[in-house]
Amino acid sequence: MHHRIRLRPPHIWTVSLFLGFGLLVFALALSASPAQAAPGSQPAHQEDKPNNDFCLACHQEEGVTKKFGNEQLPVTINPTEFGFSVHNEEGVSCVDCHTDISDYPHPNVKAKNTRDFTLSFLETCKECHEEQYTKVQDSVHQIAFDDGNKNAAVCMDCHNPHTQTRLTGKTSGELTLSARLDIPATCAQCHTEIYDTYKTSVHGNALTEENNTDVPTCIDCHGVHNIQSPSTVTFRNSTPFLCAKCHTDESIMSKYGISTNVLNSYVSDFHGTTVKLFEEQFPDQPTNKPVCTDCHGLHDISRVDNPETGIAMQENLLVKCQRCHPDATANFPAAWMSHYEPSPENYPIVYYVNLFYKFFIPTVLGGMILFVLTDIYRRIVNRMKGVKH
Ligand code: HEC
Ligand code: HEC
Ligand code: HEC
Ligand code: HEC
Ligand code: HEC
Ligand code: HEC
Ligand code: HEC
Ligand code: HEC
Ligand code: HEC
Repeated sequence: MHHRIRLRPPHIWTVSLFLGFGLLVFALALSASPAQAAPGSQPAHQEDKPNNDFCLACHQEEGVTKKFGNEQLPVTINPTEFGFSVHNEEGVSCVDCHTDISDYPHPNVKAKNTRDFTLSFLETCKECHEEQYTKVQDSVHQIAFDDGNKNAAVCMDCHNPHTQTRLTGKTSGELTLSARLDIPATCAQCHTEIYDTYKTSVHGNALTEENNTDVPTCIDCHGVHNIQSPSTVTFRNSTPFLCAKCHTDESIMSKYGISTNVLNSYVSDFHGTTVKLFEEQFPDQPTNKPVCTDCHGLHDISRVDNPETGIAMQENLLVKCQRCHPDATANFPAAWMSHYEPSPENYPIVYYVNLFYKFFIPTVLGGMILFVLTDIYRRIVNRMKGVKH
């Protein structure tokens, strides 16, 4: 349209006619697409690629559905939510994902139900998110999916393409705090029971009730796109190091007054020593010794001094020991020192015995060495003097 104006100067009436017509077309284009108005660019290159406003003009309407047999899929797209989405922010438009739609009526949809409709978009995300797409391929979800479980999570179950906001900082690349707070709810869509348990745990309660992001969410322990089966031997044997990531970090634990010696004391404990040696020699063999979660629980980890569930209470701890030591009686746990290093308050007898040895052994050994040295000295001196015994 516009380049016509560059014609050789003709009659003034022709020019104003062209100008007037051009303006009219431009104004029409503007009123049809108020949000996208970028003067000059509009009419030029949108011929066969409809813009978002064309789609939203119909799709912002509430209550419209698409029928799949007796299922009804709402087709409303909220323009405000879409406006705030990361895809809109990054200039990804409706037709970048809906490549087969350019007009109404839309082409026929092959899917027979809403789940199959969702699944028909599996390759859509690959286009721009190859990295995540590749990672997902050997995850538990993909494996369950390939085994025929169509309810296993796919991209769209965890990310609504129309409303997804930014998860990672644009420059930092790090997970944002608010995204971190949302994670358990994402998994809860399908893992409801685990989520309900997690919410009551010392970790989950801090996250969901206090917005505390120091505690682990589902993905700190399981990963995200490459979630592996948690029932393997390797996973079980590695749990102590999973917990240790945070529990040996003084900068996190000092805020809560929690000991960071729990891994060391676990490893030097007879249970832990064997797990560690075992893990080094037979990484593929199941260990029969307890790892952190056998005593502390898993999705239900509680404060150790919680009066109902805490394992500092011997009756609560005994139940855990009895799983492997079925004959253990009430005072069995007392025979074991858990994580605490002996101190005058905890295990005073052990403490003083240790203390005694700390002095006794150097004294005895030192005395013996002194004796041997003076003896050698005496012999040398005597020999030099030529004195015979
Ligand atoms: C004239 C109104 C109108 C316009 C314009 C329109 N749609 Fe639709 N769309 C509908 C209606 C109504 C449905 C519900 C199903 C049906 O009746 O076809 C629908 C259904 C859909 C569906 C569900 C699956 C399917 O294909 O039926 C998608 C996806 C979709 N529209 C995307 C778009 C996109 C992308 C655009 C812009 C390029 C767009 N629509 C433009 C009215 C419209
Ligand atoms: C980043 C890719 C992407 C963009 C951008 C996108 N869509 Fe979609 N859309 C999808 C996917 C994937 C589905 C299938 C999702 C599902 O079923 O869970 C879908 C489904 C739909 C549906 C069916 C109803 C529903 O919510 O499942 C409609 C209607 C629709 N899109 C319209 C639009 C319109 C209008 C726009 C632009 C304003 C748009 N889409 C932008 C990927 C996208
Ligand atoms: C046409 C390209 C394109 C397609 C197709 C597309 N995306 Fe995106 N997506 C982007 C861009 C660009 C960003 C911004 C990425 C960035 O800045 O790191 C983004 C961001 C995201 C983010 C947030 C990333 C973050 O770091 O905060 C998620 C999640 C996401 N997309 C999921 C999807 C899913 C799921 C699909 C398939 C339904 C999809 N995308 C399809 C281009 C696309
Ligand atoms: C089981 C849920 C789940 C599935 C399935 C899933 N994601 Fe994610 N995704 C997440 C969570 C949670 C995050 C935020 C955590 C993070 O960034 O470390 C995330 C982050 C992202 C990001 C931001 C950058 C990054 O890697 O952290 C992109 C992009 C993304 N997902 C795309 C996809 C695509 C594409 C698929 C399908 C191939 C997919 N996701 C499948 C849960 C999921
Ligand atoms: C759309 C539903 C859905 C969502 C959302 C979902 N999952 Fe799953 N998940 C499944 C299904 C289905 C299976 C396979 C069922 C099975 O084998 O027990 C599965 C399996 C798993 C397994 C392996 C279980 C096992 O016994 O081997 C783990 C771990 C897991 N999911 C973690 C997560 C995490 C973490 C999230 C959130 C980031 C999440 N899931 C989100 C549906 C989902
Ligand atoms: C502190 C680490 C940790 C956190 C946080 C965590 N998990 Fe787990 N999860 C584990 C471990 C360890 C196992 C393996 C248990 C075993 O020995 O079989 C497991 C097992 C699972 C399983 C498979 C076994 C089962 O009980 O069905 C699923 C599914 C699962 N977790 C999902 C989740 C979800 C969803 C969340 C968030 C709400 C979550 N997990 C939070 C550590 C964690
Ligand atoms: C054999 C059982 C058992 C095992 C295995 C075990 N713990 Fe404990 N843990 C306890 C008991 C009992 C307590 C309660 C207080 C005490 O006696 O130390 C405790 C206390 C704790 C505390 C609280 C410390 C404080 O300062 O309040 C943390 C954190 C902890 N354990 C983490 C771990 C981690 C991480 C592992 C694995 C590396 C682990 N535990 C292995 C039994 C165990
Ligand atoms: C992402 C970091 C992180 C990981 C991973 C983690 N924890 Fe924690 N844990 C915390 C924080 C932070 C607290 C303190 C929460 C509070 O007091 O509000 C805590 C509290 C605890 C407590 C309660 C201590 C008390 O006050 O009595 C126990 C027990 C515990 N964790 C055990 C574990 C075990 C076992 C694992 C591994 C399965 C684990 N944690 C993994 C960060 C972590
Ligand atoms: C996951 C299983 C498991 C749990 C839970 C467990 N133990 Fe053990 N424990 C073992 C195994 C295996 C041995 C080594 C037995 C052997 O080598 O003869 C052992 C050895 C011991 C020993 C050394 C003396 C002996 O009987 O050989 C004591 C003491 C002990 N455990 C105390 C405890 C206490 C206290 C608890 C609870 C806080 C506990 N155990 C929980 C598996 C477990």
